[in-house]
Amino acid sequence: MAKLKLGILGSGSGSNMQSIVDAIEAGTLDAEVKIVLTDVPGAKILDRAAKHSLEATYLDCAPWKTKLEGPAEDRCIEIMKAAGVDTVVLAGFMRIVKPKLLAAFPNRVINIHPAILPSFPGVHGWTQALDYGCKVAGVTVHFVDAGTDSGPIIVQKTVPVMEDDTPETLHARIQVQEHIAYPEALNIIASGKYRIEGRRVRIG
Ligand code: GRF
Repeated sequence: MAKLKLGILGSGSGSNMQSIVDAIEAGTLDAEVKIVLTDVPGAKILDRAAKHSLEATYLDCAPWKTKLEGPAEDRCIEIMKAAGVDTVVLAGFMRIVKPKLLAAFPNRVINIHPAILPSFPGVHGWTQALDYGCKVAGVTVHFVDAGTDSGPIIVQKTVPVMEDDTPETLHARIQVQEHIAYPEALNIIASGKYRIEGRRVRIG
């Protein structure tokens, strides 16, 4: 299969992007990062991108606060296409992506969510799991569809919830697994050895 050409969208620290870049640099993921876009000026993900000499820029998503739509969505698609992106990676991107972006990259928009879906979609999945009293929590990497955190699942990993966990300690434990799960999921896509059958992603 051809090397994946990634376009990364992130709003925060970018530790998931870092795990992807590290896997590429270690030769364990056949991909290249073509562009990094953030909707948050000065987000740490930009510093991380700069350290690896990746092309990265701020994308003004106004007037919307929680979705990528309208002129910003058009601009995002234009930038990604011009950069030669074939796979869009949401790495802590705190906006809902809309059908136009999904149509521009069919079955090629991937998200990571810090919970075992379909439990606890939306924000702060780890806090939801803790408050619910779950004994296990975890992470899901999935294809993005028109819903919220609802697309076909590629990889999931679990972690135990400890008696003395706080939202912060649980999230930190989940993030360790996130950084394994995202490169693993992208490797499956890069291999081409999968097919999406309804909700199921059949691998191998
Ligand atoms: C991660 O917990 C991810 O699962 C969620 O947002 C967080 C982003 O972290 N979607 P980072 O910016 O990749 O460090």
